[in-house]
Amino acid sequence: MKSEFIALDKAGEEVEWLRNFLEDILYWPKPVAPVCIHCDSQAAIGKAGSIMYNGKSHHIQRRHNIVRELLSHGIITVDYVKSKDNVSDPLIKGLSREGVERTSKGMGLRPRTSQHGAGHVLVFPSYNGFFEKPGLFLDQMFVRKCYRGMRLGKLLFSTVAMQAEKMGMGMVDWLVADWNEETINFYEKMGAHYIPEYRLCKLYGDKLQAFGNKID
Ligand SMILES: CC(C)(COP(=O)(O)OP(=O)(O)OC[C@H]1O[C@@H](n2cnc3c(N)ncnc32)[C@H](O)[C@@H]1OP(=O)(O)O)[C@@H](O)C(=O)NCCC(=O)NCCS
Repeated sequence: MKSEFIALDKAGEEVEWLRNFLEDILYWPKPVAPVCIHCDSQAAIGKAGSIMYNGKSHHIQRRHNIVRELLSHGIITVDYVKSKDNVSDPLIKGLSREGVERTSKGMGLRPRTSQHGAGHVLVFPSYNGFFEKPGLFLDQMFVRKCYRGMRLGKLLFSTVAMQAEKMGMGMVDWLVADWNEETINFYEKMGAHYIPEYRLCKLYGDKLQAFGNKID
């Protein structure tokens, strides 16, 4: 039972981190639902819910208290899973190919040959000398075609904007090609201010290499 409580305590820590992360996502339904942890020991589940821990080890008693608190505050629930259906198996023992495929699917992993993520956004910190304020530069934002119209773009964009606001930054900047009308329409819907006077500059090829040799 000791190892089960160590595992439940550690999983509980991860759940707390995950919940804080989800809380920060503007469109995530609030309050964040309890996260279900699967455990293949009925005895440990029964013990986790009970007020008394009558074991001798102090450090397991401390873990028992933490798990019980997470349960009573609705942060986690602990459900029984049969050992043969436990998806954590590959982390602790060697498995057959079928076993690896089954447990990987159970963890929500997909084979590389199928579709990858639904979309991504890449930002990095920047500084605007005119406003004398730091900001975020949105370098890339993309939602795969089959996932469009499901408000994922808005979710990604709002997360960036919310983060900028939270960090006391003055703005979010990015570039978009003038032929990319659909994307421009989306950005305008998000409240973007379009600045036609700015021009994109690039230094590359021999002009860039020339700087590698000397500075006059
Ligand atoms: C632009 C993009 C991110 C939008 O993602 P999406 O997930 O389809 O958008 P959402 O479903 O979150 O839409 C959010 C809102 O914007 C609106 N919207 C989405 N695309 C729009 C468009 N082309 N024109 C006008 N409004 C649009 C939606 O109707 C929705 O409105 P609502 O909040 O009133 O319901 C996606 O189409 C994309 O990745 N395009 C390619 C981006 C690209 O070229 N990136 C490189 C250059 S920056």
